[in-house]
Amino acid sequence: MTARLEIVVLAAGQGTRMKSDLPKVLHPLAGRPLLAHAIATAQALNPARTHVVYGHGGERVLTQFPDAPVTWVEQAERLGTGHAVMQAMPGVADDAVVLVLYGDVPLVPAALLEPLVAEASGGALAILTVELADPKGYGRILRDAQGAVLGIVEEKDASPEQRQIREGNTGILAAPAARLRAWLGALKNTNAQGEYYLTDVVAMAVADKVPVLAHCAADEDDVLGVNDKLQLAHLERVYQRRQADALMRAGVTLMDPARFDLRGTVQCGRDVVIDAGVILEGHVTLGDGVTVGANCYLRDVELGAGTQVRPMSVLEETVVGPDCRIGPFARLRPGTVLAAHAHVGNFVELKNAQVGEGSKVNHLSYVGDTFMGRDVNVGAGTITCNYDGANKHRTVIGDRAFIGSDSQLVAPVEIGADATIGAGSTVTRDAPPGELTLSRAPQKSIAGWKRPVKQPKTAG
Ligand code: UD1
Ligand code: CA
Repeated sequence: MTARLEIVVLAAGQGTRMKSDLPKVLHPLAGRPLLAHAIATAQALNPARTHVVYGHGGERVLTQFPDAPVTWVEQAERLGTGHAVMQAMPGVADDAVVLVLYGDVPLVPAALLEPLVAEASGGALAILTVELADPKGYGRILRDAQGAVLGIVEEKDASPEQRQIREGNTGILAAPAARLRAWLGALKNTNAQGEYYLTDVVAMAVADKVPVLAHCAADEDDVLGVNDKLQLAHLERVYQRRQADALMRAGVTLMDPARFDLRGTVQCGRDVVIDAGVILEGHVTLGDGVTVGANCYLRDVELGAGTQVRPMSVLEETVVGPDCRIGPFARLRPGTVLAAHAHVGNFVELKNAQVGEGSKVNHLSYVGDTFMGRDVNVGAGTITCNYDGANKHRTVIGDRAFIGSDSQLVAPVEIGADATIGAGSTVTRDAPPGELTLSRAPQKSIAGWKRPVKQPKTAG
């Protein structure tokens, strides 16, 4: 029998040690606020309700999660973890099981929480503990000679002997709501910090002869919280390494899993190869046989099978067909769509541009607000002049057109199919299909012309 589950996420911390104006739970881990990770963990457990206790900077936290399926509870005064949970209790049903999570503990796997919820459904108080190499700062788990849990003592209240205990409290616990409500109501703040400690409910459960079951997390990183930028960076690397490992297990080749960052989701085909220093954001889809070269940045991108992105390229909101070649040093901005076999070379910027099958823009060009047909060749240094200072205009380039190097296409303008534009032209009117169009001052040579000669200085 599974009881109704209500999750309370504590997120009222000030995060003083972050030394930042941003509330702690809004600092991003893998591109998403810490609190988003905690809410996702909560959702994975399918709760009847999730309550988020917010405090300092509260409004900013709320506005970051306009659609989160949670109830927001304000803790106006920060009087301790027990006080924080108490703020949510009026909204919790008596027959529920309460699971307490933390907005600044981002990596806890649902599999560690399920047993706690199951045991609390059976009437127990279940706590998650962790064996720590350095337990400094943590509450310590007190056990009797038989190993039964007696209570938790906070570091600041602990005796020197108790501080030797290496089993720490993660803070995560699950309890039957009615019991928890009664214990919280009886909390006192007569301790070293003058706070209402959630941890004191453990000794109360023992006194009430409610079974207290402790689960020890095997991997410290699973339960670590973020208090400062060092811990944030540490957990970012842990998270990235876990994602990298999962991708490699799925067959993706990562040239260096320690230099790979995924801040979002990626879907990979077979035989995808990703070189060092690649950052993927948003949702990225990489087809079979795609290679992404060193130090590329891809956000919300789809690459067709066999496409190669060479080093140092930046692609955003771009859809690329199969067997394309991009970069090195290419920049594909939002709205770029490449059909199969297109080539985009170095120092080329595309924006809101459709490039047809087999077309090539290989060197030093800007193509914006453009529709380009198939098998077009855009020569080096071609610029679409799409902006007149007030409005953007479109350029249309027909199939098999050839744009000579160093041309400017002043939009709105249309280059017909099979048209040729002479190098160095400024095209201001439509170029008819099949013809050569050029706008260029005629070349002349001046016979007998002499270079100026430097005059000797006259004494003066
Ligand atoms: C708490 C535990 C400690 C445990 C440690 C693990 C208590 C009394 N102690 O200590 O046993 O080892 O976490 O990291 O529970 N919070 C609120 N409102 C408050 C106070 C705290 O929302 O009034 C939130 C904080 O935002 C934070 C969490 O609760 O996310 C823990 O608070 P913190 O002050 O960091 O507790 P610790 O002293 O670290
Ligand atoms: Ca803490």
